[in-house]
Amino acid sequence: MTSFERSARLYDAVYRARGKDYAREAARLRALFPTPASGRPLRVLDVGCGTGEHLVHLRDATRVAGLDLDATMLAEARRKLPDTPLFRADMRRFASRRPFDAVTCLFAAIGYLCGEGDVRRALGCMAAALRDGGALLVELPLAPEQLAPARPSALRARCGDAEIARAADAARERDRLLIRFEYSVRSGDREERFTEEHSMLSLPAELYLRIARSLGLRARIDASWPSGGGLLVASRPAQGTRARTRSVRRRGGAVAQSGDGKLDPGAGLRSRRSAPGASASTPTIRSAARPSP
Ligand SMILES: C[S@@+](CC[C@H](N)C(=O)[O-])C[C@H]1O[C@@H](n2cnc3c(N)ncnc32)[C@H](O)[C@@H]1O
Repeated sequence: MTSFERSARLYDAVYRARGKDYAREAARLRALFPTPASGRPLRVLDVGCGTGEHLVHLRDATRVAGLDLDATMLAEARRKLPDTPLFRADMRRFASRRPFDAVTCLFAAIGYLCGEGDVRRALGCMAAALRDGGALLVELPLAPEQLAPARPSALRARCGDAEIARAADAARERDRLLIRFEYSVRSGDREERFTEEHSMLSLPAELYLRIARSLGLRARIDASWPSGGGLLVASRPAQGTRARTRSVRRRGGAVAQSGDGKLDPGAGLRSRRSAPGASASTPTIRSAARPSP
């Protein structure tokens, strides 16, 4: 399902070279987080956190946690964030024992899923992990009408003493964008070459809005988000409207959506945590089923 096994260690260097500004994005996210109850830090979960770059820039004012399906990406994140709870889990099948003030899912991580049903399951899990009044912020992959005719591209980056060259080519296939990366990593007189393929879902932004609303969230798209297909900005209505929300959640939430009888959060696997000494108040993520390989 995920495709970063060989490139995870190069990921930060590649996107730094591409000019991705995680600090700036984190500042924009902060402005969309709800106000914390007096004195306590906000709790934020980043779903599909990858190497943890957003968490690095969010952690000073918030209590952050992350989850990702890819062990190699998580290993990079753990190196940078040794005290942060980081869980190996599938965004379509997780549950949290304690609710978060904000849940983020960024850089089109949701685009790695297989179709509308998966998106619904993942958004259901994210929505269920929010407290009343909490915010859900999901960066959308490019929508079908935003897919320009694919053009090959190339970039160069440095990672320690390694010179990285990455060539990219993309093709559109029905509701997916297939991206092929050719890597060359040169270190002294050694060169490693490998190819990586990423298959990204491309769905109309309207569909994400519809799903979020069917989960009882208030939702809009912020089209000014710097990359991808915009930012889904959603929130769980606070207490007054809770009764209605709960009934919608029961119909559209992660547990009701599963249909496979496996999504009993209480009976599922418990994901690994990176911080053995994490306090008892640290939110615990449970995977409801074994992540796909
Ligand atoms: C393009 S990277 C984005 C990483 C990070 N959010 C960032 O902004 O750099 C997409 C991430 O989504 C993760 N991912 C893909 N499918 C997933 C799933 N089903 N559950 C959890 N994470 C997933 C990948 O392992 C990868 O780390």
